Amino acid sequence: MTQAWISPADRLRALPPYVFARLDELKANARAEGLDLIDLGMGNPDGATPQPVVDAAIAALQDPANHGYPPFEGTANFRQAITSWYERRYSVKLDPDGEALPLLGSKEGLAHLAIAYINPGDLVLVPSPSYPAHFRGPLIASANIHQIILKPEQDWVIDLGSIPDDVADRAKVLYFNYPNNPTAATAPRDFFEDVVKFALKHEIMLVHDLCYAELAFDGYQPTSLLEIPGAKDLGVEFHTLSKTYNMAGWRVGFVVGNRDIIQGLRTLKTNMDYGIFAALQTAAQSALELPDSYLEIVQQRYIERRDCLIEAFGKLGWSIPKTKATMYLWVPCPPGLSATEFALTVLQKTGVVLTPGSAFGAGGEGYVRVSLIAECDRLREAVTRLDKADIRYA
Ligand SMILES: Cc1ncc(COP(=O)(O)O)c(C=O)c1O
Repeated sequence: MTQAWISPADRLRALPPYVFARLDELKANARAEGLDLIDLGMGNPDGATPQPVVDAAIAALQDPANHGYPPFEGTANFRQAITSWYERRYSVKLDPDGEALPLLGSKEGLAHLAIAYINPGDLVLVPSPSYPAHFRGPLIASANIHQIILKPEQDWVIDLGSIPDDVADRAKVLYFNYPNNPTAATAPRDFFEDVVKFALKHEIMLVHDLCYAELAFDGYQPTSLLEIPGAKDLGVEFHTLSKTYNMAGWRVGFVVGNRDIIQGLRTLKTNMDYGIFAALQTAAQSALELPDSYLEIVQQRYIERRDCLIEAFGKLGWSIPKTKATMYLWVPCPPGLSATEFALTVLQKTGVVLTPGSAFGAGGEGYVRVSLIAECDRLREAVTRLDKADIRYA
């Protein structure tokens, strides 16, 4: 029996429905009707975790020293592996005691950071479209959100000049993410320099999400916020092992950067969770220590998929520029269809699952995100099904 007096807190009711949960329902219905789904909806890598990482986990599982509560701040070895990786990768030196904190996946940390730092009514700058935790975390913290609408004519890079001075002066935090989910956009190093100047001028905490640090192609190297002089005085950067190492189910991420910001997040988390199972931290350490040849294999896989899907879409009239990073293509909907209408039509007529851009905020309207999480033959088949169902761009 439903009890009328059992009602969630206002902060939960302020949240728009989570589109991925709704998509899951629709997918279940479609499967029940016998449709062979090609699911390109979520950013869930389809590859296996590298064998050395699995082996390290198995060995660590056998060690009873790993079976108790892990240390709140993460194991010293994993924190050391994080800062060594940072130095190797970006030539940035960080203190493993205080400037690096392991997370139960970066989504958890991104959302908890908002709860640790945002008071009800504080103003938070969030691009639209953006990864949902960047606005849902602040919404849970009862923030006021100023959406920075990203535009194709600006290559989906934030136009800092479009943010009115009085808004910037009132803002407490800016969330941003390049290489970007969902648009697959990248931002030049100049942008990172400008954003640090902007944040200093307006006294804004920077939260950069470098989820796709290693899924970069054709020689492109994404910038870390912490490479920019002064960034560590006012910002943090989130990373995940989910994408690069096919470890989405393991729930391992980390945040690095400003010691004080990390301390606040750590204090909150000390009251909420016990951190990552120590055996998985040992395995995660081995992932960060894998040779670059592993990265080349992963990158090559996404390059092949990107190229075959762009070519197949091209035959149906979609002209999609070559992406330099991420595991997504950002595809404009045929004229006259909203993102949700288009994604639903495609799902119902073809069994291909795409994510409507509007799931990432109003700025994503008119686009769908396609995840490169299937082999080329399945990706080509997805486009053949669109063709047969007469779904074309023009
Ligand atoms: C930009 C961005 N940040 C964070 C995440 C979440 O990663 P994790 O698995 O570490 O929680 C994702 C996942 O798709 C993402 O796209």
